[in-house]
Amino acid sequence: MAMEDNLVSRDATAFFHQKGSSPCLSALRAAEGIWLEDSEGRRFIDLHGNTVHHIGHGHPEVIAALKRQLDTLPFAPRRFTNEPAVGLAEKLLAYWPGARAKVLFATGGSDAMEIALKLARVTTGRHETISLEGSYHGHGFGAFGLSKAAADPRLGPFLPGRRHVTPYWAPDGAQRMLAEMREALGRSETGIAAVVAEPIRSNCHVPPDGLWAEVRDLCNRHGALLIFDEIPSGLGKTGRFFAFEHVGAIPDAVVLGKALGGGLLPIAAVIADARLDIAPELDLGHYTHEKNPLTTRAALTMIDIVERDGLVRRAAELERRIRSRIAALASEAPAILGVRGCGLLLAIEFDPAAFGMNPGPAFAARLVSRCFEFGLSTTSKGPASIGFSLPMTVTDAELELCFERLERVAAAPPC
Ligand SMILES: Cc1ncc(COP(=O)(O)O)c(C=O)c1O
Repeated sequence: MAMEDNLVSRDATAFFHQKGSSPCLSALRAAEGIWLEDSEGRRFIDLHGNTVHHIGHGHPEVIAALKRQLDTLPFAPRRFTNEPAVGLAEKLLAYWPGARAKVLFATGGSDAMEIALKLARVTTGRHETISLEGSYHGHGFGAFGLSKAAADPRLGPFLPGRRHVTPYWAPDGAQRMLAEMREALGRSETGIAAVVAEPIRSNCHVPPDGLWAEVRDLCNRHGALLIFDEIPSGLGKTGRFFAFEHVGAIPDAVVLGKALGGGLLPIAAVIADARLDIAPELDLGHYTHEKNPLTTRAALTMIDIVERDGLVRRAAELERRIRSRIAALASEAPAILGVRGCGLLLAIEFDPAAFGMNPGPAFAARLVSRCFEFGLSTTSKGPASIGFSLPMTVTDAELELCFERLERVAAAPPC
């Protein structure tokens, strides 16, 4: 049996199966820069990277910094602080454009979302939330309950007071979203603690101008907090350090994660207005690895690299280049309709009719497996689109290769 089959089948036997994770496509033996290499030696350009690969996989400077950190201070138990943890906190706070802010760290985005929800409850004295139907904010019972009004009944009840509104990316979504938010804020008897949303959705849906400024205004008038989830979209991926810098609204709290650990280690952060620091007697999220010197060192080094190499500017510049290349490709290949998204958080839209198919999960799945055959690892971003999310460190030559492979996908029917 090939080594890969062996690992994939051992994986299927050992792990609980869950949507989106099982079964595995293949087993990896290496990841470097934009590249993934499986145990059969096949190499894929990673157009997905779970949105952790802002600076590529296995960045050598982050690895070197971690090795040094391992040799000095590998862990810090609670109540002891350390240099990389404080350095990271100060670094993130320096980016905050609002009034003075403070931070807390967690091991993953879902946990950081729970902290943001607790802060909202504690500071408003309310517990209800408004979120966008069909969004995703993580797997804690708080965060997961924000995603959908009706989850699988086998999971039992979620937190009380969840209100879901039409998302702006639905047909006429922006108007409906605002109208439903106004109604929910006006009608709630116990009060809405927070509106929680991604400012720019990681499925690459960009909101209409002015939408979040209106929501900001509504929150102010009703005393609700605005919490932005930038777990996939923050840290420069959209061509600005925070995705909310595109949308004209400063939230009360923003949650970062994924790429924060340099693509190597798990760490997430909540940055919030310092006025929310009113409950020092409560446990808001003192996770075991809250101030882990390794995860915080990875994050600090990641941001240093983003700054030194001008990667935020590079993401914005590459977006322009990709847009004009995809427009040219679309004019030659009827299968490609265009590109949507922001910075390097992009999705390519295909025309299923060009392949004699209808839009839907079956078409998207075929598109993804056709990409895989041509050495592009990606996921579907809707019924007829795929993710095109490259690291901000991608070179010009690598981008060229990526276009070549995409052209081959567009030329071949995905069946
Ligand atoms: C928008 C969004 N929020 C929250 C999360 C949860 O983050 P984590 O998987 O680190 O818990 C994710 C992860 O995919 C995400 O995309």
